[in-house]
Amino acid sequence: MLVNGSPFRTIWLDDDGRRVRIIDQTRLPHEFVVRTLATVGDACVAIRDMQVRGAPLIGATAAYGMCLAAHGDPSDAALDSAVDALLATRPTAANLRWALDRMRTALDDVAQDDRIACAYALAAQICDEDVEACRTIGVHGDSVLRDLASRKNTPLNILTHCNAGWLATVDWGTALAPIYHAHDAGITLHVWVDETRPRNQGAALTAWELAAHGVPHTVIVDNAGGHLMQHGHVDVCITGTDRTTATGDVCNKIGTYLKALAAHDNGIPFYVAAPSSSIDWAIRDGLRDVPIEERDGCEVSRITGCAADGATTTVQLTPAGCPTANPAFDVTPARLVTGLITERGLCDATEAGLAALFPEHVVGTGA
Ligand code: MRU
Repeated sequence: MLVNGSPFRTIWLDDDGRRVRIIDQTRLPHEFVVRTLATVGDACVAIRDMQVRGAPLIGATAAYGMCLAAHGDPSDAALDSAVDALLATRPTAANLRWALDRMRTALDDVAQDDRIACAYALAAQICDEDVEACRTIGVHGDSVLRDLASRKNTPLNILTHCNAGWLATVDWGTALAPIYHAHDAGITLHVWVDETRPRNQGAALTAWELAAHGVPHTVIVDNAGGHLMQHGHVDVCITGTDRTTATGDVCNKIGTYLKALAAHDNGIPFYVAAPSSSIDWAIRDGLRDVPIEERDGCEVSRITGCAADGATTTVQLTPAGCPTANPAFDVTPARLVTGLITERGLCDATEAGLAALFPEHVVGTGA
């Protein structure tokens, strides 16, 4: 995507061919800061502190974390401890283990002397695959939006939650990719952007991305979506996913479930853009089996923004010492999901729907 006219991915290799560069998303939208990751420890901090976030980008960063680890020490013991450290950063996104499994398996198969080159090649491949998967999700989702838009004269109103745009992936995004494709193709649309407390990825990141691309949008408080749906102001919802089960249950940013309930009550289609890297084929019951990250309560009790003098400021919202709870994700049962938009096309949020698109993951097919 373009930032002030220059093409950017969210993660790339430094000119030295070793270190890794990222956009520090904790500083957006007020500052555009690029950071350099030099060690696997830096990669862990970047993921844990959400300088990088979004399921696909977490996976890509973990892959490059393994490159940095291999550069430091390509022994089995060092690589195993790098996997453990990276896995411990954030528990919910399926892409983290998916990327680490790919990296570790590939490195197992090569001699120690070849591991650094092998790691960098595979990390680059994981990134390129993510870009292509997201681009293709955009193409498939574009057809859904065109179809909906063809049934009305006014702009198509789309509601999205959190940030599942290019900042959450290597490029394009998942939920926002269809929106970019449709907008670029001349479909008249408007996006309702949930602010997404507590960390406000919608207000800070989605709004910044959409503005940069010239997509009409309006930021709303998280509680406004149901009201807008009741009054006919939302035609379709599209969100991303951190982990989708083999049966189509969708784990995504906290608050997604409430939007799916409201959409269901109002007869509004609710789509989830799901690259296969976010599908956990090993689990079937999202409510029972997806680990939900519990983050620090200070994300609830405080809020960070830009003061009038341009300085980033954090202020206290709650009474001092007030108890807080901060589950970062929730699970939307498959029955509330109209369809999954994957890189292989659209499917029902069911075991049969996913199996038809990804037969190699069906147990017993020998994949
Ligand atoms: O806590 P975050 O910002 O990493 O959560 C991100 C989301 O919930 C996204 O919707 C999800 O990762 C899909 S990103 C394409």
